[in-house]
Amino acid sequence: MSAAKSNIASGFATNRVVLGTVQFGLDYGISNTAGKVPLEEVCRILAYAHAKGVTMLDTAAAYGDSETVLGKSLQETGLSFQIISKLPPTVTARDVRRTVEASLEKLGADKLYGYLFHSFNSYKEHPAVLEQLCLLQEEGLIAQVGFSLYHPAEALELLDKNITFGLTQFPYNIFDRRFDLVLDKLQAAGIETHVRSVFLQGLFFIEAAQLPPYFSKVAGKIAALQQLAQKANIPLEALLMHFVLQVPGINNLVIGVNSLKALKANLATSEYQAAIQYLLPELKRYEVTDEDILLPYKWKTS
Ligand SMILES: NC(=O)c1ccc[n+]([C@@H]2O[C@H](COP(=O)([O-])OP(=O)(O)OC[C@H]3O[C@@H](n4cnc5c(N)ncnc54)[C@H](OP(=O)(O)O)[C@@H]3O)[C@@H](O)[C@H]2O)c1
Repeated sequence: MSAAKSNIASGFATNRVVLGTVQFGLDYGISNTAGKVPLEEVCRILAYAHAKGVTMLDTAAAYGDSETVLGKSLQETGLSFQIISKLPPTVTARDVRRTVEASLEKLGADKLYGYLFHSFNSYKEHPAVLEQLCLLQEEGLIAQVGFSLYHPAEALELLDKNITFGLTQFPYNIFDRRFDLVLDKLQAAGIETHVRSVFLQGLFFIEAAQLPPYFSKVAGKIAALQQLAQKANIPLEALLMHFVLQVPGINNLVIGVNSLKALKANLATSEYQAAIQYLLPELKRYEVTDEDILLPYKWKTS
């Protein structure tokens, strides 16, 4: 059993946090006004995360120069992490090896913990890529091959077709519980689950007055959630993280930060685990099913 698997529903441990790094390579996040994180801040973030027991990073070839920035900062800090990266969506089977080797070179690493199809569609368009990834796995370049998904139906299709994979990443948060449908099945198949969008790109933190009009349908829910956290004297980030951490079948949380300050806040939330339990029935009422809200690629905010 992997370390991640033994952590299921056992509460908060920083080794259940995977640090997302799209923010290191692109201007990313609905609440981000500062732009791409500068290299010196990336080094501070990595050093703090490592010291606190975070062992894994999530990146992708498609995240601007995130892989290069990570490679530089890992070299500068002398730190080592397990790394998950993702295949660019247009790569075909014959270019897989070259692409993985290019990622490894940028990262200054000799192997990856995980390597994922960036989306289910990219797998559907180039299914022969999977065989090539499995060959690289046999050679020891990749420990876990898998899929980054957006819809539970995609996971169901992979499971129904008995596609072999070891790791999947998908969105899950207090609004978005669509993947509840498949968590049991993924767990039964021994597939490691990493969830992203725990903060929905930072949407939950935006104050009512700053919220883009596109989100007017959920403005009341966001404000109520912020008030609930304040009234219960629980930091909003603690509430959002523990809501997800307590779900059986979820191994790890991929969270992104734009500053050391946010990372410190997110890693200081373990003391609130018990306090969240009595709020759970109320928190479950915040579910939203409208995919125009749940899926950032559908947002019309500019
Ligand atoms: N298809 C895919 O595979 C895919 C897609 C998207 C993301 N990802 C991965 O998932 C990672 C996380 O992305 P996500 O979309 O899931 O974002 P997220 O973690 O839900 O939200 C990240 C944003 O939340 C804000 N935040 C975090 N902690 C905070 C705190 N304590 N206080 C206030 N604000 C805070 C930050 O914005 P500010 O600091 O700017 O306010 C940050 O940019 C990415 O880095 C990437 O590695 C993968």
